[in-house]
Amino acid sequence: MSPLSRRRFLGATLAAAGAAAVTSVAGCATGAPPPRTLPARRPLAIPPLAPSTRDAAGRRVVELVAAPGTSAFLPGLATTTWGYGGLPFGGPTLRARRGEDVVLRVTNRLPETTTTHWHGATLPARADGGPHQPIAPGATWEASWRVDQPAATLWYHPHPHGATERHVHRGLAGLFLIDDDVPAGLPDRYGVDDVPLVLTDRAFAPDGAFDERHRNAVGLLGDTVLVNGTVAPYLDITTSRVRLRVLNASPARSYRVALDDEAPLTLVGTDSGLLPAPRTVDGVVLTPGERAEILVDLRPGARRVLRSVSHDLGTVNGISQAAGANDSFGLLELRPADRLEPSPAVPARLSRETPLEATAAARTRRFVLSNNRINGRDMDTARVDEVVPVAATEIWEFTNRHTQPHNIHVHDARMQVLEPGVPAAERPWKDTVAVPPMTTVRALVRVGPHADPEVPYMLHCHLLRHEDDGMMLQFLVVAPGQRPATSIAAAPDHDHG
Ligand code: C2O
Ligand code: CU
Ligand code: CU
Repeated sequence: MSPLSRRRFLGATLAAAGAAAVTSVAGCATGAPPPRTLPARRPLAIPPLAPSTRDAAGRRVVELVAAPGTSAFLPGLATTTWGYGGLPFGGPTLRARRGEDVVLRVTNRLPETTTTHWHGATLPARADGGPHQPIAPGATWEASWRVDQPAATLWYHPHPHGATERHVHRGLAGLFLIDDDVPAGLPDRYGVDDVPLVLTDRAFAPDGAFDERHRNAVGLLGDTVLVNGTVAPYLDITTSRVRLRVLNASPARSYRVALDDEAPLTLVGTDSGLLPAPRTVDGVVLTPGERAEILVDLRPGARRVLRSVSHDLGTVNGISQAAGANDSFGLLELRPADRLEPSPAVPARLSRETPLEATAAARTRRFVLSNNRINGRDMDTARVDEVVPVAATEIWEFTNRHTQPHNIHVHDARMQVLEPGVPAAERPWKDTVAVPPMTTVRALVRVGPHADPEVPYMLHCHLLRHEDDGMMLQFLVVAPGQRPATSIAAAPDHDHG
């Protein structure tokens, strides 16, 4: 049995839900340390909203510093961590409205070069913050663009070539909320009834340091879950409904987010936008990088537990593949007050966006995932793998020929997965999709309106170890008549600290 399932940090509730019977490979496969006695439950930390200013041109300016800090996750032990915006771990929540110009300035006070990628954003390649926009220690990098995409829960994290897992694992990750005109009725008071949940997992060395050494085939799996950096959290609730914006920021672990009694949840949003209409589900699977917005209804004084329950990421020869998917454990205790402010009715229609149509797809591209390669290739920062016309709609087909689960994230793109039987009008908007072993996922992919014949975007597995191992390709987005570079120039040296 895994440390996670033995670790009864939600005490009686967890045991009553039968979690103790769950078996797992995570603990043994990672060599994670034995379970510890956890501190008393703590109130869930809510990442602060990042302060911003307006410049003379009316642009929203945010300054972020990435720096080392010290966190206290376990009783009596200090953990060296990395964070943004003065937080020792994680980062403040960025927020911008559709139509706004944003200027994001990142200063690197870490001992090594990093980058800051705006995951899910539609933006110029130079602002993307991928491996081609390094920020040397002491340097400041500036990204700016006009936000023009529907309301969504995006996030930001480092993306340095070959070192993304380590930088994210040390704590660098924050949310980036895009606001748009959406129908009234969705809870939207940040930290009150609109609550971010950044899920990560860590293993600890005996001295309290994050264990960065013991990994299995999927990467680093931890035996301790952190929600917004809080171990064993609870959330006091004052309204009859809450909106939870859940991000899987784990390097490798997947989650199936559900209520303790498998009571229905209302799914209202996925990675890159709201659903056309609310959908009742009994759980949501999130592989690394994926997000979901869910609504939970509460009764006065009746505590609930949000959990992750075991799920199937795909089966090969009768063996279901793990990535922590066999584990069940508590995430967050929801503690409604004895009197709750009534929440407005859930709107029947959410997004009014026109769905992508397969008939509009100009062509099909195929990507075969094998042992940490895509189309048989390892990531090469100089190579141009694909050239895509600006604002194109295409079908991209991802085939996993490997016995391990992978997922695929495409920068600058919004996708809708083509699933038999799902009408176009009901397809969720995605930027990261799970590709189970020995399956093919076909998605309509819409790339953004920004062309650059020299600076590429990335397409990669979001299991961070796989990404670092080279499971990543690069594509250029070009306007008609633009001649794409045949190779990508090395990034300029940003060392002016
Ligand atoms: Cu969230 Cu290319 O990354
Ligand atoms: Cu991304
Ligand atoms: Cu992978």
